[in-house]
Amino acid sequence: MMAMQQIETPQTGSPKNVQPLLRITGLTTEFRLEGGRRLQAVQDVDLDIGAGEILGLVGESGSGKSVFAQSILRLVQPPGQVVAGAIAFEGRSVMDMSARELSRWRGRDVGMIFQQPQSCLNPVRRIGWQVAEPLLLQEKLSRKAAWAGAVDLLRAVGIPAPEEKVLAYPHQLSGGQAQRVMIAIALALKPKLLIADEPTTALDVTIQAQILELLRESCRMLGTSLLLVTHDLGVVARLADRVAVMYAGRIVEEGPVETMLTAPAHPYTQGLIGAAPQLGQARGVRLKDIPGTIPDLSRLGAGCAFAPRCDARAGQNLESCTLSQPLPVSIRPRHRALCFAAKASSAVSPCEISP
Ligand SMILES: Nc1ncnc2c1ncn2[C@@H]1O[C@H](COP(=O)(O)OP(=O)(O)O)[C@@H](O)[C@H]1O
Ligand SMILES: [Mg+2]
Repeated sequence: MMAMQQIETPQTGSPKNVQPLLRITGLTTEFRLEGGRRLQAVQDVDLDIGAGEILGLVGESGSGKSVFAQSILRLVQPPGQVVAGAIAFEGRSVMDMSARELSRWRGRDVGMIFQQPQSCLNPVRRIGWQVAEPLLLQEKLSRKAAWAGAVDLLRAVGIPAPEEKVLAYPHQLSGGQAQRVMIAIALALKPKLLIADEPTTALDVTIQAQILELLRESCRMLGTSLLLVTHDLGVVARLADRVAVMYAGRIVEEGPVETMLTAPAHPYTQGLIGAAPQLGQARGVRLKDIPGTIPDLSRLGAGCAFAPRCDARAGQNLESCTLSQPLPVSIRPRHRALCFAAKASSAVSPCEISP
Protein backbone atom coordinates (compact mmCIF):
# COMPACT_ATOMS: atom_id res chain seq x y z
CA MET A 1 0.00 0.00 0.00
CA MET A 2 -0.01 3.25 0.66
CA ALA A 3 1.61 5.00 3.48
CA MET A 4 5.31 4.64 2.88
CA GLN A 5 5.31 4.34 -0.88
CA GLN A 6 3.87 7.66 -1.84
CA ILE A 7 6.72 9.88 -2.89
CA GLU A 8 6.40 13.59 -2.75
CA THR A 9 9.08 16.19 -3.00
CA PRO A 10 9.18 17.86 0.37
CA GLN A 11 9.60 21.57 0.49
CA THR A 12 12.33 22.13 3.02
CA GLY A 13 12.84 25.22 5.07
CA SER A 14 10.34 28.01 5.48
CA PRO A 15 11.07 30.92 3.20
CA LYS A 16 9.87 34.25 4.52
CA ASN A 17 6.90 34.63 2.23
CA VAL A 18 5.54 31.13 2.76
CA GLN A 19 3.40 30.34 5.78
CA PRO A 20 5.18 27.71 7.88
CA LEU A 21 3.39 24.47 8.68
CA LEU A 22 3.52 25.26 12.37
CA ARG A 23 4.03 28.69 13.88
CA ILE A 24 4.42 29.05 17.62
CA THR A 25 4.48 32.50 19.17
CA GLY A 26 4.97 33.51 22.78
CA LEU A 27 4.14 30.04 24.08
CA THR A 28 4.28 29.86 27.87
CA THR A 29 3.39 26.82 29.95
CA GLU A 30 3.16 27.00 33.69
CA PHE A 31 2.82 24.55 36.57
CA ARG A 32 1.20 25.77 39.77
CA LEU A 33 3.08 24.24 42.65
CA GLU A 34 1.93 23.70 46.20
CA GLY A 35 2.21 26.88 48.21
CA GLY A 36 1.19 29.01 45.22
CA ARG A 37 4.60 29.13 43.49
CA ARG A 38 4.61 28.98 39.70
CA LEU A 39 7.05 27.09 37.54
CA GLN A 40 7.30 28.19 33.92
CA ALA A 41 8.56 25.13 32.08
CA VAL A 42 8.15 26.85 28.70
CA GLN A 43 8.69 30.61 28.52
CA ASP A 44 7.73 32.90 25.68
CA VAL A 45 8.81 30.51 22.94
CA ASP A 46 8.66 31.53 19.27
CA LEU A 47 9.37 28.75 16.80
CA ASP A 48 8.38 27.85 13.24
CA ILE A 49 8.52 24.49 11.53
CA GLY A 50 8.44 24.49 7.74
CA ALA A 51 6.76 21.87 5.57
CA GLY A 52 9.00 18.82 5.20
CA GLU A 53 11.59 20.24 7.57
CA ILE A 54 13.44 18.28 10.28
CA LEU A 55 13.91 20.48 13.34
CA GLY A 56 16.10 19.16 16.17
CA LEU A 57 15.26 20.45 19.64
CA VAL A 58 18.15 19.97 22.08
CA GLY A 59 18.92 20.84 25.67
CA GLU A 60 19.85 19.30 28.98
CA SER A 61 17.39 17.21 30.92
CA GLY A 62 14.83 19.42 32.68
CA SER A 63 15.06 22.27 30.17
CA GLY A 64 11.39 22.01 29.14
CA LYS A 65 11.59 20.03 25.88
CA SER A 66 8.90 17.48 26.75
CA VAL A 67 6.53 20.05 28.22
CA PHE A 68 7.02 22.10 25.05
CA ALA A 69 6.18 19.08 22.84
CA GLN A 70 3.11 18.34 24.97
CA SER A 71 2.07 21.99 24.84
CA ILE A 72 2.04 21.98 21.02
CA LEU A 73 -0.31 18.99 21.10
CA ARG A 74 -2.33 20.46 24.00
CA LEU A 75 -1.51 17.38 26.03
CA VAL A 76 -0.21 19.16 29.14
CA GLN A 77 -1.89 17.71 32.20
CA PRO A 78 -2.95 19.74 35.27
CA PRO A 79 -1.46 21.32 37.31
CA GLY A 80 0.26 22.34 34.08
CA GLN A 81 -1.39 24.80 31.73
CA VAL A 82 -0.54 26.77 28.62
CA VAL A 83 -1.01 30.30 29.96
CA ALA A 84 0.02 32.40 26.97
CA GLY A 85 0.86 32.24 23.30
CA ALA A 86 -0.47 31.05 19.99
CA ILE A 87 -0.03 27.85 18.00
CA ALA A 88 -0.99 28.01 14.34
CA PHE A 89 -1.06 24.88 12.21
CA GLU A 90 -1.47 25.79 8.53
CA GLY A 91 -2.83 29.07 9.83
CA ARG A 92 -5.45 27.43 12.07
CA SER A 93 -5.33 28.18 15.77
CA VAL A 94 -4.71 25.00 17.75
CA MET A 95 -5.56 26.81 21.00
CA ASP A 96 -9.05 27.54 19.69
CA MET A 97 -9.85 24.00 18.54
CA SER A 98 -12.78 22.24 20.20
CA ALA A 99 -12.15 18.85 21.82
CA ARG A 100 -13.55 17.19 18.72
CA GLU A 101 -11.40 19.23 16.32
CA LEU A 102 -8.36 18.57 18.49
CA SER A 103 -8.75 14.82 18.45
CA ARG A 104 -9.32 14.87 14.70
CA TRP A 105 -6.23 17.06 14.25
CA ARG A 106 -4.11 14.81 16.45
CA GLY A 107 -5.37 11.74 14.62
CA ARG A 108 -4.88 12.97 11.06
CA ASP A 109 -2.38 15.78 10.87
CA VAL A 110 0.10 15.08 13.64
CA GLY A 111 1.74 11.87 14.76
CA MET A 112 3.71 11.42 17.98
CA ILE A 113 6.36 9.05 19.23
CA PHE A 114 7.66 8.94 22.77
CA GLN A 115 10.67 7.53 24.55
CA GLN A 116 9.13 4.32 25.90
CA PRO A 117 7.33 2.59 23.02
CA GLN A 118 6.26 -0.37 25.14
CA SER A 119 4.34 1.86 27.51
CA CYS A 120 2.44 3.51 24.64
CA LEU A 121 1.22 0.21 23.19
CA ASN A 122 -1.80 -1.59 24.62
CA PRO A 123 -0.36 -4.74 26.26
CA VAL A 124 -3.46 -6.89 25.68
CA ARG A 125 -4.12 -6.14 22.01
CA ARG A 126 -2.40 -7.70 19.03
CA ILE A 127 -0.16 -5.17 17.36
CA GLY A 128 -1.93 -5.69 14.02
CA TRP A 129 -5.09 -4.10 15.41
CA GLN A 130 -3.16 -1.28 17.03
CA VAL A 131 -1.60 -0.40 13.68
CA ALA A 132 -4.90 -0.97 11.84
CA GLU A 133 -6.91 1.21 14.24
CA PRO A 134 -6.19 4.60 12.66
CA LEU A 135 -7.00 3.13 9.25
CA LEU A 136 -10.30 1.78 10.59
CA LEU A 137 -11.31 4.88 12.52
CA GLN A 138 -9.98 7.70 10.40
CA GLU A 139 -9.75 6.26 6.91
CA LYS A 140 -12.95 4.22 7.43
CA LEU A 141 -11.38 1.18 5.77
CA SER A 142 -13.04 -2.23 6.14
CA ARG A 143 -11.54 -4.54 8.78
CA LYS A 144 -9.96 -6.67 6.07
CA ALA A 145 -8.44 -3.71 4.24
CA ALA A 146 -7.18 -2.16 7.50
CA TRP A 147 -5.57 -5.46 8.51
CA ALA A 148 -3.86 -5.69 5.11
CA GLY A 149 -2.81 -2.08 5.56
CA ALA A 150 -1.26 -2.92 8.93
CA VAL A 151 0.78 -5.72 7.34
CA ASP A 152 2.02 -3.30 4.68
CA LEU A 153 2.90 -0.65 7.24
CA LEU A 154 4.83 -3.12 9.39
CA ARG A 155 6.73 -4.23 6.31
CA ALA A 156 7.49 -0.60 5.43
CA VAL A 157 9.02 0.04 8.86
CA GLY A 158 11.23 -3.02 8.56
CA ILE A 159 9.45 -5.56 10.76
CA PRO A 160 10.46 -9.03 9.52
CA ALA A 161 7.67 -11.48 8.58
CA PRO A 162 4.95 -8.85 9.05
CA GLU A 163 2.15 -11.34 8.17
CA GLU A 164 3.04 -13.19 11.38
CA LYS A 165 4.09 -10.22 13.50
CA VAL A 166 0.63 -8.61 13.22
CA LEU A 167 -0.56 -11.36 15.56
CA ALA A 168 2.06 -10.63 18.22
CA TYR A 169 1.44 -8.83 21.51
CA PRO A 170 3.68 -5.92 22.56
CA HIS A 171 5.63 -7.97 25.14
CA GLN A 172 6.75 -10.26 22.32
CA LEU A 173 8.60 -7.39 20.60
CA SER A 174 12.11 -6.13 21.23
CA GLY A 175 12.49 -2.45 22.13
CA GLY A 176 13.59 -1.61 18.60
CA GLN A 177 10.65 -3.49 17.05
CA ALA A 178 8.22 -1.78 19.43
CA GLN A 179 9.55 1.62 18.35
CA ARG A 180 9.17 0.59 14.69
CA VAL A 181 5.55 -0.32 15.45
CA MET A 182 5.04 3.09 17.08
CA ILE A 183 6.47 4.75 13.97
CA ALA A 184 4.09 2.70 11.79
CA ILE A 185 1.14 3.84 13.93
CA ALA A 186 2.27 7.46 13.98
CA LEU A 187 2.78 7.57 10.21
CA ALA A 188 -0.22 5.39 9.21
CA LEU A 189 -2.26 8.41 8.14
CA LYS A 190 0.65 10.27 6.56
CA PRO A 191 0.58 13.16 9.04
CA LYS A 192 2.00 16.54 8.08
CA LEU A 193 3.90 16.77 11.34
CA LEU A 194 5.56 14.16 13.51
CA ILE A 195 6.69 14.97 17.03
CA ALA A 196 9.24 12.51 18.39
CA ASP A 197 10.35 12.99 22.01
CA GLU A 198 13.68 11.22 22.62
CA PRO A 199 12.50 8.32 20.42
CA THR A 200 15.70 6.29 20.68
CA THR A 201 17.01 7.08 24.15
CA ALA A 202 15.84 3.75 25.55
CA LEU A 203 17.43 1.70 22.75
CA ASP A 204 20.97 0.47 22.31
CA VAL A 205 23.27 2.35 19.99
CA THR A 206 23.12 0.24 16.81
CA ILE A 207 19.32 0.00 16.99
CA GLN A 208 19.17 3.76 17.64
CA ALA A 209 20.95 4.46 14.37
CA GLN A 210 18.57 2.20 12.41
CA ILE A 211 15.46 3.74 13.96
CA LEU A 212 16.70 7.26 13.27
CA GLU A 213 17.44 6.34 9.67
CA LEU A 214 13.92 4.93 9.37
CA LEU A 215 12.42 8.09 10.85
CA ARG A 216 14.34 10.33 8.49
CA GLU A 217 13.60 8.27 5.39
CA SER A 218 9.90 7.90 6.25
CA CYS A 219 9.49 11.62 6.87
CA ARG A 220 11.37 12.57 3.70
CA MET A 221 9.28 10.14 1.65
CA LEU A 222 5.96 11.37 3.01
CA GLY A 223 6.99 15.03 3.11
CA THR A 224 6.27 14.96 6.85
CA SER A 225 7.86 17.64 9.05
CA LEU A 226 9.66 16.27 12.09
CA LEU A 227 10.18 17.90 15.46
CA LEU A 228 12.88 15.69 16.94
CA VAL A 229 13.50 16.18 20.65
CA THR A 230 16.86 14.80 21.71
CA HIS A 231 19.81 15.41 23.97
CA ASP A 232 22.16 13.74 21.50
CA LEU A 233 24.06 16.18 19.28
CA GLY A 234 25.20 13.39 16.96
CA VAL A 235 21.54 12.69 16.19
CA VAL A 236 20.95 16.33 15.39
CA ALA A 237 24.06 16.53 13.21
CA ARG A 238 22.94 13.58 11.12
CA LEU A 239 19.21 14.26 10.86
CA ALA A 240 18.23 17.86 11.35
CA ASP A 241 17.90 20.68 8.83
CA ARG A 242 17.60 23.20 11.63
CA VAL A 243 18.38 23.17 15.35
CA ALA A 244 16.76 24.92 18.30
CA VAL A 245 18.48 24.90 21.68
CA MET A 246 16.37 25.07 24.81
CA TYR A 247 17.59 26.27 28.17
CA ALA A 248 15.39 26.78 31.24
CA GLY A 249 12.23 26.90 29.14
CA ARG A 250 13.48 29.30 26.47
CA ILE A 251 14.82 28.77 22.97
CA VAL A 252 18.22 30.40 23.45
CA GLU A 253 19.51 29.80 19.93
CA GLU A 254 18.08 28.64 16.67
CA GLY A 255 19.51 28.24 13.19
CA PRO A 256 20.46 25.97 10.27
CA VAL A 257 22.30 22.86 11.42
CA GLU A 258 25.61 23.63 9.68
CA THR A 259 26.04 27.07 11.23
CA MET A 260 24.73 25.98 14.61
CA LEU A 261 27.35 23.24 14.82
CA THR A 262 30.26 25.16 13.35
CA ALA A 263 29.58 28.72 14.51
CA PRO A 264 27.25 28.70 17.50
CA ALA A 265 26.62 32.15 18.91
CA HIS A 266 25.16 31.49 22.35
CA PRO A 267 27.62 30.63 25.14
CA TYR A 268 25.35 27.74 26.15
CA THR A 269 25.41 26.20 22.67
CA GLN A 270 29.14 26.86 22.46
CA GLY A 271 29.57 24.96 25.70
CA LEU A 272 27.40 22.07 24.56
CA ILE A 273 29.26 21.46 21.35
CA GLY A 274 32.69 22.60 22.41
CA ALA A 275 33.88 19.12 23.26
CA ALA A 276 32.03 17.14 20.60
CA PRO A 277 34.56 16.08 17.94
CA GLN A 278 33.60 15.76 14.26
CA LEU A 279 29.90 15.98 14.84
CA GLY A 280 29.15 15.19 11.23
CA GLN A 281 30.41 11.65 11.61
CA ALA A 282 29.86 11.20 15.31
CA ARG A 283 27.44 8.71 16.74
CA GLY A 284 25.93 8.91 20.16
CA VAL A 285 27.69 12.15 21.00
CA ARG A 286 26.25 13.34 24.28
CA LEU A 287 26.00 16.95 25.20
CA LYS A 288 29.09 18.17 26.95
CA ASP A 289 28.79 18.68 30.64
CA ILE A 290 28.81 22.36 31.44
CA PRO A 291 29.84 23.18 34.99
CA GLY A 292 26.85 23.86 37.22
CA THR A 293 23.27 22.68 36.84
CA ILE A 294 20.15 24.08 35.29
CA PRO A 295 18.38 26.37 37.72
CA ASP A 296 15.16 25.65 39.59
CA LEU A 297 12.60 26.92 37.09
CA SER A 298 10.28 28.05 39.89
CA ARG A 299 12.93 30.40 41.31
CA LEU A 300 14.29 32.24 38.29
CA GLY A 301 15.42 35.82 38.68
CA ALA A 302 14.92 38.71 36.28
CA GLY A 303 18.06 38.10 34.22
CA CYS A 304 19.25 35.43 31.80
CA ALA A 305 18.79 31.97 33.37
CA PHE A 306 22.19 30.88 32.03
CA ALA A 307 24.09 33.82 33.53
CA PRO A 308 25.31 31.97 36.65
CA ARG A 309 27.04 29.35 34.46
CA CYS A 310 28.09 31.63 31.63
CA ASP A 311 31.77 32.13 30.66
CA ALA A 312 30.97 35.00 28.30
CA ARG A 313 29.28 36.96 31.04
CA ALA A 314 32.13 36.38 33.42
CA GLY A 315 34.67 37.35 30.74
CA GLN A 316 32.95 40.53 29.61
CA ASN A 317 31.49 41.46 32.98
CA LEU A 318 28.11 42.17 31.43
CA GLU A 319 25.89 43.62 34.11
CA SER A 320 22.69 43.44 32.07
CA CYS A 321 22.82 39.60 32.08
CA THR A 322 21.61 39.40 35.66
CA LEU A 323 19.22 42.36 35.44
CA SER A 324 17.02 41.67 32.43
CA GLN A 325 16.08 39.18 29.73
CA PRO A 326 18.11 39.40 26.53
CA LEU A 327 16.12 40.02 23.33
CA PRO A 328 16.59 37.84 20.26
CA VAL A 329 19.61 38.91 18.22
CA SER A 330 19.99 38.11 14.54
CA ILE A 331 23.38 36.50 14.00
CA ARG A 332 22.92 35.84 10.28
CA PRO A 333 19.85 35.09 8.17
CA ARG A 334 17.62 32.51 9.92
CA HIS A 335 20.03 32.26 12.84
CA ARG A 336 19.24 34.01 16.12
CA ALA A 337 20.36 33.88 19.71
CA LEU A 338 19.01 35.15 22.99
CA CYS A 339 22.13 36.65 24.51
CA PHE A 340 23.59 40.03 25.43
CA ALA A 341 27.10 38.78 24.71
CA ALA A 342 26.17 37.54 21.23
CA LYS A 343 24.73 40.95 20.48
CA ALA A 344 27.82 42.69 21.75
CA SER A 345 30.27 40.51 19.86
CA SER A 346 28.34 40.32 16.59
CA ALA A 347 27.14 43.93 16.64
CA VAL A 348 23.96 43.18 14.74
CA SER A 349 20.48 44.55 14.95
CA PRO A 350 17.68 42.81 16.84
CA CYS A 351 16.06 40.35 14.51
CA GLU A 352 12.47 39.99 13.53
CA ILE A 353 10.84 37.41 15.75
CA SER A 354 9.84 35.00 13.01
CA PRO A 355 12.27 33.66 10.46
N1 LIG B 1 3.76 17.63 36.36
C1 LIG B 1 4.69 18.53 36.66
N2 LIG B 1 4.61 19.27 37.78
C2 LIG B 1 5.54 20.20 38.09
N3 LIG B 1 6.62 20.45 37.32
C3 LIG B 1 6.77 19.74 36.20
C4 LIG B 1 5.83 18.74 35.80
N4 LIG B 1 6.24 18.20 34.63
C5 LIG B 1 7.41 18.84 34.31
N5 LIG B 1 7.72 19.75 35.24
C6 LIG B 1 8.89 20.63 35.26
O1 LIG B 1 9.03 21.23 34.00
C7 LIG B 1 10.42 21.38 33.69
C8 LIG B 1 10.70 20.85 32.31
O2 LIG B 1 10.52 19.45 32.29
P1 LIG B 1 10.63 18.59 30.94
O3 LIG B 1 9.85 19.26 29.86
O4 LIG B 1 10.25 17.21 31.27
O5 LIG B 1 12.19 18.68 30.61
P2 LIG B 1 13.01 17.89 29.48
O6 LIG B 1 12.04 17.14 28.61
O7 LIG B 1 13.77 18.95 28.73
O8 LIG B 1 13.94 17.00 30.21
C9 LIG B 1 11.18 20.68 34.80
O9 LIG B 1 11.66 21.66 35.68
C10 LIG B 1 10.16 19.82 35.46
O10 LIG B 1 10.45 19.70 36.83
MG1 LIG C 1 11.90 15.09 28.19
